[in-house]
Amino acid sequence: MTATEEPLSPLPSFPPGFLWGVSTSAHQIEGAADRRAPSIWDAFSAEPGRIRDGSTADTACDHVARHREDVALVRDLGVDAYRFSVSWPRVLTTGGLDFYDRLVDELCAQGVLPVPTLFHWDLPVEVQERGGWLERDTAARFADHAATVVARIGDRVTRWITLNEPAEHTLLGHALGEHAPGHKLLFDALPVAHHQLLGHGLAARALRAAGAREIGIANSHGPTWPASTEQADVEAADLYDIILNRLFSDPLILGRYPDGFGELMPGDDLAADLKVISEDTLDWYGINFYQPTKVGAPGTADVEFSGLTLPAELPFSVREIEGHPKTDFDWPVVPEALTELLTGFRDRYGDRLPPLVVTENGCAYEGVDDRERIAYLDGHLRALHRALEQGVDVRGYFVWSLLDNWEWAEGYTKRFGLVHVDYTTQVRTPKASYGWLRDALRAQRASRA
Ligand code: BGC
Repeated sequence: MTATEEPLSPLPSFPPGFLWGVSTSAHQIEGAADRRAPSIWDAFSAEPGRIRDGSTADTACDHVARHREDVALVRDLGVDAYRFSVSWPRVLTTGGLDFYDRLVDELCAQGVLPVPTLFHWDLPVEVQERGGWLERDTAARFADHAATVVARIGDRVTRWITLNEPAEHTLLGHALGEHAPGHKLLFDALPVAHHQLLGHGLAARALRAAGAREIGIANSHGPTWPASTEQADVEAADLYDIILNRLFSDPLILGRYPDGFGELMPGDDLAADLKVISEDTLDWYGINFYQPTKVGAPGTADVEFSGLTLPAELPFSVREIEGHPKTDFDWPVVPEALTELLTGFRDRYGDRLPPLVVTENGCAYEGVDDRERIAYLDGHLRALHRALEQGVDVRGYFVWSLLDNWEWAEGYTKRFGLVHVDYTTQVRTPKASYGWLRDALRAQRASRA
């Protein structure tokens, strides 16, 4: 994105009570790998060639040791809430829950609302060895994990997120093999989607049984744009849209799979599973938004796209979106696609739609004078505000991410933080975007005083 030297005009006013937050995830920041059970990402990073810079997340941002400093950064930023994830492998380790107990205490002491996510892709190896999300039993084990966590920190936590991006975990981890556990199952990965959704439903029951009242999920969504008006492109884009978007939101919100997909799902009683997935499991729906996707009819060769290899046998092909700035990940910056996405959810689901929260939005750029990130966040907040003006009930916005961190298959090569992390010294340096957001939030409060 072209750096803008012009001061940006103030953001429009967001409604009173709108929840401002920042997001992180356990495996990407915590470090202290020797004090938890191994996760599928430890195993995956140990395989040569899997991670771009050959790194591991063994130390990452050393957050377990430095969480007080990190919570102080959240507090000083002036956001209301901090979204973090609870590492299932750490919870399985004796004393592992103590860390989350301390973290939640520290957040409460600093006046920041804790918003834990119970699964952000770091499945314990021991669960994977029993089949992982390809096995139905993992859904029940996930509910046990939820019950263990809520029993320990549920007295101070009011907002819960069950899963992070079951769509990406299915597609990248199990269909394309670009993420842990590295399976390349293409459409045979569909049981992973169903079992995660079932896990969401069972975990929500466990949370409710422990008194939780505000349960959500954080899924990735983005508008899909057909490459042309040709029928083959439109059909391919529709299929992609189902796989990325509706395959996850329809069962959660409508209690059914898109046409033709229910019969592909595992289990003896799909109707019963769909009840577990959809009945009283969501008080709000979290959307992680990064970019729209342009999709056309299948090609004849594999395509390299934003670090992914998309095989030719897929029934669609992803195309370059031109005419927009790109982030360091080569993702196009298209803020208006967020308005389109949010209004599209309202139009599709109408009265069935719970209130929405943007649970992740952000971009990869180098440098601490990150004017491109300011422009990205400013543009997306204005786009969100336009959705509010059009009557969409959006209750909050979380930036991805508080800190630069270990970006999965990209290792340490992509920086998404509002705060720069020097991975050698672990020194934290707030970037220009951190100061911009802090000032923007102050202005929001002042406009209401
Ligand atoms: C994930 C994050 C990730 C971010 C940027 C989201 O898909 O939830 O863990 O770091 O995107 O790639």
